[in-house]
Amino acid sequence: MTEFDFMTRIDRSKTNAIKTKAQEDEQDLIPLWIADMDFVAFPELQETAHSYADQQIYGYTYAAHTLFDAIQYWEEKQHHYTFDKEAIILVEGVVPAIGLAIQSFTQKNDGILINSPAYPPFARTIELNERKLFRSPLIEKEGLYFFDFVEMEDLFKSGQIKLYILCSPHNPGGRVWTKDELFKIGKLCQKYHVLLIADEIHQDLIWDGTEQHSFNTLSPEFKNFAIIISSATKTFNLAGTKCAFAIIENLDLRKKYLHQRLVNNQHEINSLGLMMTETAFRYGTPWLSALKAQIQINLSYLMAELTHKTAIKIMKPQGTYLVWLDFSSYGLTDTQLHQILIKDAKVMLNKGSSFGVEGELHARLNLASPYETIKTGVDRLVNTFGK
Ligand SMILES: Cc1ncc(COP(=O)(O)O)c(C=O)c1O
Repeated sequence: MTEFDFMTRIDRSKTNAIKTKAQEDEQDLIPLWIADMDFVAFPELQETAHSYADQQIYGYTYAAHTLFDAIQYWEEKQHHYTFDKEAIILVEGVVPAIGLAIQSFTQKNDGILINSPAYPPFARTIELNERKLFRSPLIEKEGLYFFDFVEMEDLFKSGQIKLYILCSPHNPGGRVWTKDELFKIGKLCQKYHVLLIADEIHQDLIWDGTEQHSFNTLSPEFKNFAIIISSATKTFNLAGTKCAFAIIENLDLRKKYLHQRLVNNQHEINSLGLMMTETAFRYGTPWLSALKAQIQINLSYLMAELTHKTAIKIMKPQGTYLVWLDFSSYGLTDTQLHQILIKDAKVMLNKGSSFGVEGELHARLNLASPYETIKTGVDRLVNTFGK
C-alpha cells in the first residue's frame, strides 16, 4: 500500500477542466484523453497552493534562486544532467518555449522537421509561425516506433531543414529513445548544421527495462546546438499553473532566445507555477515512485484485457502514461471509429489523426486516472470492440 492517494475520484467538471468539458453534452463519457492526470496532488503541493492563497496579495513576482536550484537538482538527480544556472530560461509552457525557439532561431519559410505521428501543437506552431513543416514518419516495427534515419539524413542533406524537434520520450508512441538512436540523431544534426529542440516533458515517466537519456548528456558537443525544454508540469500534473524551462548552454543561442522572450513579453511567469515547480522538484520523488507503480497497474489491466479480448493493436509504452491504440483491423473509417468510441463505447480518447495521417484509425488513451476509472474505460472498450 502506498501512503499516497491514487484512488479518490474527484469531480473535475466543476473546475473547468478541459478533460471533462465534453461531458457537458455526454455525461456518461469516461474522459481518457488530454494528457493530464486525475490524481490528487501530493500533500506538499497542496500546502504550496494554500500558502500562495494565504499571501492575500497576488501581484508580480520574480523567480527565486531556490527554484533554479531545484531545477538543477532534479535534472542532475533524475537525469545526470548538469549545467550552469544561467542556462535555465523560464517560459510559461513547453509549447510556448518551442514557439519561442522557432521565432528565435529560424526565419519565415525556413524548414522545420518533426517525426510523425507528432504531438499536434508541434505542427500547428511551425505552421502558424509560417515556417515550412517537414514530417519524417516513424517506422513501426514489432510494436515500437523507430526513426527513419535514411529519410532524415536525406532531408538534412537537402539543406532545407534549419531546426529539428525531437520528442523524447515520444508522444503519442511512448517510445523512449536509446542512447544509440539519440547519438545518431545528434551526429546528423551536427553534420548538417541543424539546430535541435529536445522536448523532454515526459522524461520522468519511464517504465522498467528502459532508460531515458537527456539529450545533452550524450556528448558535450551536442550542447552547442541543442535546446532542452522541459517542466515539472507533466510529471506532477501542474499544467494549469504554467511554468516550464529551456536549458540553453550555447551562449549565442541563449542570448537570441532571451531577446525573443523579451520581444514577446514572455519573461514573467505565473507566481503559483514558480512555487509549485520548486515544491514538485524538491519533494516529489516518493510520490513519483508511487505514481509509476499505479500507472503500471493500470497499464497491466489494459494490456491483459485489450490484448486477449479485442483486435485493438496496442503500442506498449516504454515511457509516458499514454497508450497508442490501433483500430485498423475493424474495417471502419476514421469518422466511424471515433463516433463508435464516443457514442457506443462512451470513452473519450484523443483522435489519432490529429497527430498526422499516420494516426488515422488510431486513438491515444491516457492511463493517469484512478484504477476504477481505467477499468471502466477499458471494460467499455472490450464490450464494444470485443472479438
Ligand atoms: C510532448 C509534449 N510537449 C509539450 C506538452 C505541453 O506542454 P505545456 O503544457 O507546458 O505547453 C505536452 C502535453 O501533453 C506534450 O505531450
